Amino acid sequence: MCGIVGYVGTDHSVEVLLGGLRRLEYRGYDSAGVAVIGIDGALRTRKHAGKLQILVDDLDETAMPNGSTGIGHTRWATHGGPTDENAHPHLGDGGKLALIHNGIIENFAELKAELLADHPETVFTSETDSEVAAHLVGYAFRETHDVTEALRSVVAKLHGAFTLLAMHQDQPGTVVGARRNSPLVIGLGDGENFLGSDVAAFVEHTRRAMAIGQDQLVTITADSITVTDFDGNPVDSEEFEITWDAAAAEKGGWSSFMAKEISEEPEAIANTLLGRSVDGEVRLPELEDDDERLAGIERIVILGCGTASYSGMLGKYAIEKWARIPVEVELSHEFRYRDPVLDAKTLVISISQSGETMDTLMAVQYAKKAGAHTISVCNTQGATIARESDAVIYTHAGPEVAVASTKAFVAQVAALYLFGLHLARVRGTLDPAESAGLLEELKAVPEQLATVLEQHDRIRELAHWMADSRAVLFLGRHVGFPVALEGALKLKELAYIHAEGFAAAELKHGPIALIEPGQPVFVIVPSPRGKGSLHPKVVSNIQEIKARGARVLVIAEAGDAAVLPYADEVFTIPLASTMFEPMLAVAPLQIFAMELAAAKGLDVDQPRNLAKSVTVE
Ligand code: M6R
Repeated sequence: MCGIVGYVGTDHSVEVLLGGLRRLEYRGYDSAGVAVIGIDGALRTRKHAGKLQILVDDLDETAMPNGSTGIGHTRWATHGGPTDENAHPHLGDGGKLALIHNGIIENFAELKAELLADHPETVFTSETDSEVAAHLVGYAFRETHDVTEALRSVVAKLHGAFTLLAMHQDQPGTVVGARRNSPLVIGLGDGENFLGSDVAAFVEHTRRAMAIGQDQLVTITADSITVTDFDGNPVDSEEFEITWDAAAAEKGGWSSFMAKEISEEPEAIANTLLGRSVDGEVRLPELEDDDERLAGIERIVILGCGTASYSGMLGKYAIEKWARIPVEVELSHEFRYRDPVLDAKTLVISISQSGETMDTLMAVQYAKKAGAHTISVCNTQGATIARESDAVIYTHAGPEVAVASTKAFVAQVAALYLFGLHLARVRGTLDPAESAGLLEELKAVPEQLATVLEQHDRIRELAHWMADSRAVLFLGRHVGFPVALEGALKLKELAYIHAEGFAAAELKHGPIALIEPGQPVFVIVPSPRGKGSLHPKVVSNIQEIKARGARVLVIAEAGDAAVLPYADEVFTIPLASTMFEPMLAVAPLQIFAMELAAAKGLDVDQPRNLAKSVTVE
């Protein structure tokens, strides 16, 4: 879960590396460093614990002359705390080789012992697993005099997940990368080339990119790119165009990326729906050839972590209702290690904004091996999970930089609903008119959501007023339940306040004991309209907590008079059918968590201990 950038081109590598690291900081931000082969031919590094800005402030042209070859790293600590020493790059070959690493080298202790037996003179300066790789590649370079060959000989010995970039002072103009179960993409420039953990690393310089497959090595110079497998056999890599605008990854006047990304939710949904229906029927071009296969599946397993798992829960409700097929939702990491029952009649849908979440990637690989058909819902083009799945439904939310997932969540729900309608058509389980009506309602959500976002100022006031809260509960039933879970997750990760989401009816089975006078409880109230609405039951649940002194904060349909007598605050959502309520009801909770964190003076884009892309298991 670190950000990696590599560059070979003209003599401004420091600026390119820092620009790339700034965009990759969401991947980890407890330390940062760069190594550059300067115009004088010497390799130098600078690295510091703390945010990237500390490194930026420390760089000056005299101490670190610019050059045309460099690598940079922004870290999320795994082995060894966030200190200057543990920050990357790490050095080998007496300081002439620099290496950066994302991932975990599982056998680093054995490798270190072997290395010290062969080279007792080796001095380790950090507690990281990565430094072992730096020394190994350094010693290998002494034999091969070529970074590519040196790195190739070392990756063969490594167990675990890694992206490694290396360069050597005696081979200026070359940066070599290798990857296994960890992301790395190539940016193709004109007289310059780039490597990055994702395209954000170089999107301001080029829109042309290439993905690197599993267990492959890439060597870049200013005007060449060579990709091989770990055995040295050449492999073809496909070029793709980056559709993200560099400006889309900037804050654009908002106080935080998170605030900007919440404001983009209507657009994220609209873009995800774009081009995916014809004459009132959902058509997913990416599943064009899959109809027969989808018609034959007997069961669906949805996988994801954190927010993605909650969008998966909503996907389950919709797919089961519309396509009448059993759906289970499971956390990727729990699924992977419990010997689940899978076969060719099982469809596994993985959900991941980044497309790099290691827990989900491992689960997808496992499901594929077990013979299941795999589809991913992913927001990042060319990401590993997307490439490893049999098919991918991209969400078009644009780059999500803030650690807290917001617009990606609603886009994931939209994509899953599209899939539900697609599957219902293939399986003939929905009347075409009903399906067309649902699609129309889905298309109306962006406009409706824009009106919900207008309540931002009122939510901010409430959040400021509640900044000292010690615990907040969230309740919902049916599709309101995942929204409650998501509201609680947002508050925990951003404001460091204990928060729990509960199925409202579950409260009386234990958690109601938590309610004491003044306890704030958010309740997601379903629409009172419609046959079988759970509205009366949720109102009863509200009465139960109100009677015990809870402070009730309600998200309810505009005009719902029945909740008013029991609610201390009401935020409204427009009239929508049950299935579409969550995409509207989640926004006030996202804003609440963000504003409460801001009121506490916390960094809402980069909460403590977290990283945007969790690339370790
Ligand atoms: O990139 P992914 O969607 O796979 O990430 C999954 C979770 O790590 C992520 O949703 C996490 O829970 C967010 N920080 C929540 O805001």
